[in-house]
Amino acid sequence: MSTFLDACARRPTPFTPAWLMRQAGRYQPEYRAIREKVSFIELCKSPELACEVTVLAAQQLNADAGIIFADILLVLDPLHIGFEFKADHGPKILKPIRTAAQVDAVAESIDPDESLGYVMEAIRQTRRALDVPLIGFAGAPFTLASYAIEGGGSKNYYETKKLMHADEGLWHALMTKLSRAITVYLNAQVRAGAQALQLFDSWVGCLSPADYERFVFPHVKSIFDGLDKSVPSIHFGTGNPALYPLMQRAGGDVIGVDWRVPLGGQWDQLGETAIMGNMDPAYLLAPRDVMFRAATQVLEQAAGRPGHIFNLGHGIMPEADPAQVRALIDHVHETSARLAEGR
Ligand code: CP3
Repeated sequence: MSTFLDACARRPTPFTPAWLMRQAGRYQPEYRAIREKVSFIELCKSPELACEVTVLAAQQLNADAGIIFADILLVLDPLHIGFEFKADHGPKILKPIRTAAQVDAVAESIDPDESLGYVMEAIRQTRRALDVPLIGFAGAPFTLASYAIEGGGSKNYYETKKLMHADEGLWHALMTKLSRAITVYLNAQVRAGAQALQLFDSWVGCLSPADYERFVFPHVKSIFDGLDKSVPSIHFGTGNPALYPLMQRAGGDVIGVDWRVPLGGQWDQLGETAIMGNMDPAYLLAPRDVMFRAATQVLEQAAGRPGHIFNLGHGIMPEADPAQVRALIDHVHETSARLAEGR
């Protein structure tokens, strides 16, 4: 039995399950020690090490789910979009995609069991070592396209929007290739043992609802339509609450929301769905009692409705104190159990 999987299916749970995006990462001294010996990519490509950091994070935090240690950009490799991770600079695309010839050169299809076999092996090993459900994941096509086109992170996504508006056919061709690869990659993760899937649309919030509907929605819908339905799926996006109803229509059993919306009102608007979120990660850096108050407020917003999975609105930052992160999960477990008893 798992509180996390119960909540994904909107079954009642004795306390609110919690896990945190980026729960394995540089805020942990153990992670930093491993990273002194291997690069980020080497860590992703070593099933033993990826398994070790995934399990360590879930156990240290007493989280109700683990997320496989990997990165959203790995799928670009079999698509022939070259990238690198430079220390402290984030990801960099070697030749940002700007032309039709470059879109043509992106692979039509991928074999994830072969080209991303190290992720599958990490999932198999982690399933044996982890006693809570394991989440597999991929980046959503807009977020991946924006990396591939901008060449890295971006403030205003002008290059991405330029391509989108200048040549709609080219945009859809790129999004179609990405979406097919993402679908087969996620389904391969389920075959390897992933018990839930999360699609990260971290940068989609830069779009208007009208542009989301026209340029993104059909592609994301095709992914959710094509997913293995034996496991629940989480559809996560940040930055623009006006997109959540459209994201929900595109698919996902659970909608992951950031802190820019009150969780309760957003849930009322979405209706029949499970919901994940949504404490501002900045509270990890606040005095502990202030953080506890913020977490309790999130639980009060959920108001005991079945189907709430506690998380941050985005990932843990490297500056967070591991003891404070653990205290957050303990607080969520204890407070939600107490609130449930009072109902
Ligand atoms: O614990 C987990 O959440 C699982 C592991 C995970 C990582 N990246 C590890 C990572 C997951 C789920 C991701 C997803 C990811 N990667 C996203 C979507 C989530 C989000 O944050 O919006 C995005 C946008 C990326 C792309 C990416 N990877 C960036 C922008 C960076 C650099 C920023 C940074 O924090 O340094 C990475 C590198 C990365 N991915 C690190 C980790 C732990 C840091 C690498 C290091 O050890 O130096």
